This record gives sequence, structure tokens and C-alpha cells, in this order.
Amino acid sequence: MILEDTIDNHAKLIGWQIADAIETKRQSNEHLVLGLATGSTPIPLYQELVRLHREANISFENVYTFNLDEYCGLEKKHPESYNYFMRQHLFDHIDIPQDNIFIPRGTLEQVFVNDYCVGYEMKIQELGGIDIQILGIGRNGHIGFNEPGSSRASITRRVELAHTTRRDAAPAFEGFDNVPSFAITMGMKTIMSAKRIILMAFGENKKQATKQAILGDITDELPASFLQQHSNVTYCTDFNIE
Ligand code: PGA
Repeated sequence: MILEDTIDNHAKLIGWQIADAIETKRQSNEHLVLGLATGSTPIPLYQELVRLHREANISFENVYTFNLDEYCGLEKKHPESYNYFMRQHLFDHIDIPQDNIFIPRGTLEQVFVNDYCVGYEMKIQELGGIDIQILGIGRNGHIGFNEPGSSRASITRRVELAHTTRRDAAPAFEGFDNVPSFAITMGMKTIMSAKRIILMAFGENKKQATKQAILGDITDELPASFLQQHSNVTYCTDFNIE
């Protein structure tokens, strides 16, 4: 399903759907598993979730979260780490138990990374899989840090970042050379295993990649195109896909 609307309206609608899913699970004493994204795109959604917590008493006590990715080499307290981002924009403002938050650890020595990534996958499965996965999209069609060339079968792993990805992140890091070269990301298979996927793409600079992802060939050159093979994806845009 493709929905075109303003960013604020998308944030409200998705926020409400997440709140409703949390509440439905709570009523049967179950938990909801959310897959979360970072970047500028989901910020209005996180603001809406914080508002729903404060003003509509939505509790996140029965929610588990798994973030898509994290830069390698950044401490949790680094202002550009995704760990810092998530606390700043969401986790510090809601009542989610700390133990329910999973974000790939970017500071592990490389020899431990493979086992760690397998453990990340197992944890998702142990909790019953991701119920709702939130995604942004890169200008090169990446989702998470699954850069062009990522296989449909890929799982959580250490990856090298694409040049365009590092260039897009350069202003935040005050220079291209300061942007980490590697990251840990959930894989395409991990993402495709989510029961429902919501991809948000806002702004003209996302139009080409989004259009290609939805209407173009399915190819690892544009990892978001694999989403065409998923049966429950909502594409939320603020532009027309034609
Ligand atoms: P953005 O990044 O939300 O900051 O545009 C999205 C992405 O690259 O996946």
C-alpha cells in the first residue's frame, strides 16, 4: 500500500497504529516487538509516540525494540551514535524497560562481532519476531545499512558503508573523514521476516530511490526493492509515486 500525505499526518497515523498494536497486545498479556530506524525521517514519529505516552497514557512496558543498525567504533555516549539518538528522541521520554531495548553494539572487538550478530538474530526470534518494522530509505536504496549489493539472504552483520551514505552523514560528523567506515546492520532477511513493514520516505531527494524500490526491478543493487516480495508493506511518502 502506498500512502501519500504530509509528514505530520503520517507520524500521527503510524503513531496511532503502534499505540493500538501495543494496547491490543497488553490486553492479552503479550508483548509487541518493534523494529526501529534512526535518521531524520522517523523523528516526527518518535515525537508522536512520546506525545501519546504523555497525553494518552500509552505505556511501553510491554514493548521490546530492536534497532536496525549502529556505527562501528562509536561509544553509546557519542552524539552521533544511534544509541544516543534513540535515547534523545524516544527512550528517555517513555516508560520502556531498559532491558527491553536492543541496539547493535558498535564497540565490540571485531573477533566477537559474528557471535554477537547471531545472538541479535536469536533474541529477535526468541521474542517471537518483529511485529512492526519502521524503515527509512537511503538515496542509494539502502535500508538499515544494507547497501547496494546486499543479499536477500543477509542477516545481522558487520558491513562497510557506501560512499554516498558516508557523504550524506558527513555534515553531522563535521567532515567525511570523521564518518565511520563500518557499521553493524540487521540483514535483508531479518527485515523481511518482520510481520509488517512501514517504510517512510520524505522529501524529493528520496523520490527516485523510493519509486525504483516500488516500481522497478527487484535487485540487490537497490536493496529496498526486495520489499516488493513482502506481503505487508506500507510505503508512506510526501510525494507522488508515478
Ligand atoms: P534519513 O536517512 O532518515 O536521515 O534521510 C534514512 C536512511 O539513510 O536510511
